Amino acid sequence: MNRGSLLAASDDLEAHFKDAMAALAGGVCVVTTTGPDGVPYGFAATSVTSVSLDPPMMLVCQAKSSRSYELFAGAGPVAVNMLAAGQRPVAERFAAPVDDKFTDAGFEYADGLAPVLPGALASVQCRRVRTIDAGDHSVLLLHVRAVRTAPGEPLIYHGRRYERLELTHRG
Ligand SMILES: Cc1cc2nc3c(=O)[nH]c(=O)nc-3n(C[C@H](O)[C@H](O)[C@H](O)COP(=O)(O)O)c2cc1C
Repeated sequence: MNRGSLLAASDDLEAHFKDAMAALAGGVCVVTTTGPDGVPYGFAATSVTSVSLDPPMMLVCQAKSSRSYELFAGAGPVAVNMLAAGQRPVAERFAAPVDDKFTDAGFEYADGLAPVLPGALASVQCRRVRTIDAGDHSVLLLHVRAVRTAPGEPLIYHGRRYERLELTHRG
């Protein structure tokens, strides 16, 4: 093992850390909420994980540089939509700092809930219970309220690229 490559100089640490996280394949999600004005907000995210089964909880990390940061930090309903491989255009739209991400994107809306995306492999409807400050990000701690799942192939992000899984378990 090349131990030298592990001992990055401190001014290189951020770049090395980014490289390390780029090596971690992640399922791409679109995280949504509805603002107090009824306007939907959302961003693409891979910093998503389960936290607890009893009660069911998950978390999402959001950059403070995100334009929707204040909204999510104080949000009530939050939905995590786990994208299917064919939903790359949705991911790209929600990863861009643009207005009007939701027009013609096909989301479903219900009073008091966050928008959910038909065709996603899973949509997890949550309530935010806490926002934890974490450096240049915040951690949104979410209580799971309802779940919808569908079969299909996931959209993966790895090595700074969108990828599809090579499924080996199909006959
Ligand atoms: C594959 C992928 C994963 C991302 N994961 C996250 C994430 O976990 N948290 C985050 O805050 N931003 C993440 N981003 C960046 C946001 O999607 C991007 O900054 C977006 O423009 C934020 O939207 P907003 O500024 O309109 O709120 C990711 C982007 C991509 C392409």
